[in-house]
Amino acid sequence: MSIAVCPGSFDPITFGHLDIVRRAARLFEVVVVGVARNASKSALLTPDERIEVVRGALAEDPDLAAVRVEPVPGLLVEFCRQVGASAVVKGLRGGADFDGEHPMALMNRHLSGVETVFLPAEQRYAHVASSLVKDIARYGGPIDDLVPPAAAEAVRAAVAHRA
Ligand code: PNS
Repeated sequence: MSIAVCPGSFDPITFGHLDIVRRAARLFEVVVVGVARNASKSALLTPDERIEVVRGALAEDPDLAAVRVEPVPGLLVEFCRQVGASAVVKGLRGGADFDGEHPMALMNRHLSGVETVFLPAEQRYAHVASSLVKDIARYGGPIDDLVPPAAAEAVRAAVAHRA
């Protein structure tokens, strides 16, 4: 059975992420969304909030009802081993994303042999980034056409109480 992991910090999940998960689900028999920690970023949402929001977003899409969402407590390669995944799927919005993802892809393969499959982001999502969503929300700007409803609600609540 072909199993892939779509990993990310998902702080919050965006429509761009959802598009990548949807396309991964057409390529692999099983897709597991792994909600991980990115050591180079400080998250706005807690790990539990990020997982809950991802689950809520997937539940709204009938095509994604079978996709599992799980926390990645440590190394991504260890998580891939535990769920039996032979591939990691990541979206690329452009060259800057590739520059960040390429060393991680090589390192993950070095550590465990897991391959990374890159999917080019849809052009309409090329400007959509979790960091920009949070920045817009901090200034009270509109984020509803960038992220699913549960994500928008969680981000607005978090910036109101924590930022
Ligand atoms: O959505 P992001 O922040 O681009 O995702 C990056 C993420 C979370 C997938 C990456 O930081 C990761 O794999 N974290 C888990 C810990 C790990 O395995 N680190 C070594 C990566 S080579």
